[in-house]
Amino acid sequence: MSSSSNSNSNSFFLLLKFLLSSSLLLVSVITCGVQARKANTQPHFHTLYFTSLLPASVCTPSPLADSIKRQSTLQVVHRHGPCSQDKPTAAPPLSRILAGDQSRVESIQARLNPTSNTNQLKPNKNKLIDRKANLPAQSGSSLSSGNYVVSVGLGTPKKTLSLIFDTGSDLTWTQCQPCVRSCYQQRDPIFNPSSSTSYSNVSCSASQCAQLSSATGNDPGCSSTTCVYGIQYGDQSFSVGFLSKDTLVLSATDVFPNFVFGCGQNNQGLFGKTAGLLGLGRDPLSIVSQTAQKYGKYFSYCLPSTSSSTGHLTLGKGGASRNLKFTPFASSKGTSFYFIDIIKISVGGQDLPISQTVFDTAGSIIDSGTVITRLPPDAYSALSTAFQQQMKKYPSAPAYSILDTCYDFSNYTTLTIPTISFTFGGNVKVDLEATGTLVAVSSTQACLAFAGNGDDADVGIFGNIQQQKLEVVYDVAGGKLGFGAGGCN
Ligand SMILES: *[C@@H]1O[C@H](CO)[C@@H](O)[C@H](O)[C@H]1NC(C)=O
Ligand SMILES: *[C@@H]1O[C@H](CO)[C@@H](O)[C@H](O)[C@H]1NC(C)=O
Repeated sequence: MSSSSNSNSNSFFLLLKFLLSSSLLLVSVITCGVQARKANTQPHFHTLYFTSLLPASVCTPSPLADSIKRQSTLQVVHRHGPCSQDKPTAAPPLSRILAGDQSRVESIQARLNPTSNTNQLKPNKNKLIDRKANLPAQSGSSLSSGNYVVSVGLGTPKKTLSLIFDTGSDLTWTQCQPCVRSCYQQRDPIFNPSSSTSYSNVSCSASQCAQLSSATGNDPGCSSTTCVYGIQYGDQSFSVGFLSKDTLVLSATDVFPNFVFGCGQNNQGLFGKTAGLLGLGRDPLSIVSQTAQKYGKYFSYCLPSTSSSTGHLTLGKGGASRNLKFTPFASSKGTSFYFIDIIKISVGGQDLPISQTVFDTAGSIIDSGTVITRLPPDAYSALSTAFQQQMKKYPSAPAYSILDTCYDFSNYTTLTIPTISFTFGGNVKVDLEATGTLVAVSSTQACLAFAGNGDDADVGIFGNIQQQKLEVVYDVAGGKLGFGAGGCN
């Protein structure tokens, strides 16, 4: 009884909010009033339409992305969906995105903890094996995941390339003519070094060639005198080619001669129809390090919450800071990933009873390319248990791929779900959006958008669904990561 009157008043507010927010500035003042009142009654809950979790079919660019024409701001769109220019490609089914996500996670974890590679054979890995058995056959191609794309210019004259941006890898690469072995289909014309007057090969003896070992995890090769790179991301995704230099053009005034990148001659995997990848890791070969003089190793982004809206990737400090809270980067293994400390998780305002050693055993990274946040096994089970307790009124639904805490919302148009908050080192508390809490797996069902690792020794990963709509600031030189609310609007 009480839940139905509750949901009636919630739907009233939602309807009001919906009507007002599509109108003008004047009325949005009233909307704020409504939100404040809602916040007072239920500070630790989100109320939303179930349909707001489903993809839309029309692109609605964010006002920020349109209005800020900062030199170094690139518009970010979801790889699949109406804002991407890859018109003919439909988004792959979620099951395939999640399978790809799992391969990416396994390859990151294997890179950080080579011994855990074999852990699937250990008897205590039953849970992981079960979950893997749920995955569809064509897994692999880790980068087919729910990824985000920006456009950059390369060469003289400049050619435009749309690249997946990835804070979990370092080397920037694009497919290159003559595609000696293989190029997959991409939307932009494939980059042709011989039609760029500023292109050059990097020689095997150059210092950048030696840096490939840490940037890619693979030692470089040599073809006549040209340095050869190879990088793989999961079962079947890789790029191999010549290490090269050319002019990178981010805007009319942000031009970087002799930018080192991979000119891919053998490329495979479902990178969508993008031309390659933009590596935003910490290594000396990443774009962050190569543009350090201009941008001071500082960048920020907002990932749009739906494939029908846009976000931004901004290199350098420019732009107003919006109430940012900074957590120090944690000490890192290797030179690529961005480690952060998770201190606490709360659900609906209640702190989960998770001992700090659970988070500290393998540590955690933040990654723009992993979709679903991965937690240590004990942390995930505490989260799932607490979430289920607060979601009791909704009927549960079968597990879906790597997601095991699922609900059937057939009989609900509006949902009230507990807010999940993460507290990072330095007491930085981040409330996740509703879209970072539940992921719709069908037109009536949704699942908690988190998964547990198979092993305590596997690194935790704060993934991109949970980062949506937040302003995420990487002050790499300052050794800290900032979070702010409402980064995309
Ligand atoms: C770069 O090196 C490759 C392999 O040695 C060679 O085939 C290609 O012609 C070189 N390109 C330029 C512009 O020197
Ligand atoms: C939805 O409501 C109908 C009618 O009360 C009920 O029979 C059905 O089982 C409910 N569906 C779910 C998934 O709870």
